[in-house]
Amino acid sequence: MLQGRTILLIVGGGIAAYKSAELIRLIRKSGGAVRVILTKAGREFVTPLTLAGLSGEKVFEDLFSLTDETEMGHIELSRSADLVVVAPATADLMAKAANGLANDLASTTLLATDKRVLMAPAMNVRMWEHPATQRNLATLTADGVTFVGPNAGEMACGEFGPGRMAEPVEILAAVGSIFGTKGIPMPAPAPIKEIAGPARAKGNLLANKHVLITAGPTHEPIDPVRYIANRSSGKQGYALAEAARDQGARVTLISGPVSLAPPAGVMLVRIETAREMNDAVEAALPADIAIFAAAVADWRVKMEAGQKLKKDGNAIPPLELSENPDILARIARHPVLRPKLVVGFAAETENVIAHATAKRARKGCDLIVANDVSPQSGVMGGDRNRVHILGESGVETLPEMDKGAVADALVQRFAEAFSKSKP
Ligand code: CTP
Repeated sequence: MLQGRTILLIVGGGIAAYKSAELIRLIRKSGGAVRVILTKAGREFVTPLTLAGLSGEKVFEDLFSLTDETEMGHIELSRSADLVVVAPATADLMAKAANGLANDLASTTLLATDKRVLMAPAMNVRMWEHPATQRNLATLTADGVTFVGPNAGEMACGEFGPGRMAEPVEILAAVGSIFGTKGIPMPAPAPIKEIAGPARAKGNLLANKHVLITAGPTHEPIDPVRYIANRSSGKQGYALAEAARDQGARVTLISGPVSLAPPAGVMLVRIETAREMNDAVEAALPADIAIFAAAVADWRVKMEAGQKLKKDGNAIPPLELSENPDILARIARHPVLRPKLVVGFAAETENVIAHATAKRARKGCDLIVANDVSPQSGVMGGDRNRVHILGESGVETLPEMDKGAVADALVQRFAEAFSKSKP
């Protein structure tokens, strides 16, 4: 799938650097070529010899190396590939890139390149949540950098939360998505001009606003190989993320497992379970607007089996369930960090308006977007949607449209409601 493509991989200094070795293997297996830049800190975690062995090419390390410069000057190196991938993207590398520093080969390359850049951040959760890193993230996103991860979960340092580098297969999928070669329907990758800077936005209804969106299903493990899930494709949530971005918002998209391209210029956090989604949402606050488009599993298995359940007796194993946190209801009633506008979704198969009205009151959200997801509607997994927006002032029904057009219309309504809502 990456035949004829060259990826310039910048390996920063973090424990996750070992995963970059696997990433190189996967890219090459997919037919792509990899050229590696290893930072000084990266060298503490993985050796140039390993990376050279896997990539089949010399590893570049030094900005001031005469040999490197005569073989390929650093400017040429920065443009020699089709895509620049930074994995792991450390807090330091992000800070340098956001501020245009160029004091080593990696940062110089990031400043000199004319190619798209994909970053896979990896750092301690506190470092990730620090306002400085979040500022740098916003700057880089506005500059058109695409992010994959970090994922939420247990980290090497023993802490829990977002900060873990995306898995190599996820980074490979993001690379494939950028080239539009993933074998699944996806929007064509945006040309550099379109994604770079404010010129990209179709409007500025949400300029300087932080919009948090949940999307997709959650997977609730039964054992290491089985899980409970639902049919949500994540398409409506992803379309909303793109629409909010196109109105100038800084967007954090917290997504369950889906096979969609990471939208350019959007901060994507991948999670699997409802509890991880809850933690990732809390970690992403404060936000001006929160949109809960995910189809969160209501229940999880009480005792997840550590090993694969075997069919070795006569008894069929019982599945005892416990309730997942209601993320929307928790955030809508957050004592300190409630976003000014909280939007829920109500996927119903009957009595759509009545159920959605009750749900809006029960969950405490400002608006609820209701749709009919009965099998005959074709909404779940499909490309079209027909929605009703329920608020204090009544119900508005939009015509059936593709999910992108629905997202544009919804984001306009949300921006309007946001500007009218009390502080
Ligand atoms: N939601 C959530 N966390 C949950 C369950 C739902 O954040 N644990 C959010 C969804 O993202 C959506 C809204 O709540 O915005 C309604 O989800 P839905 O599944 O329709 O509602 P439920 O509370 O699960 O009600 P029911 O299954 O009884 O229809």
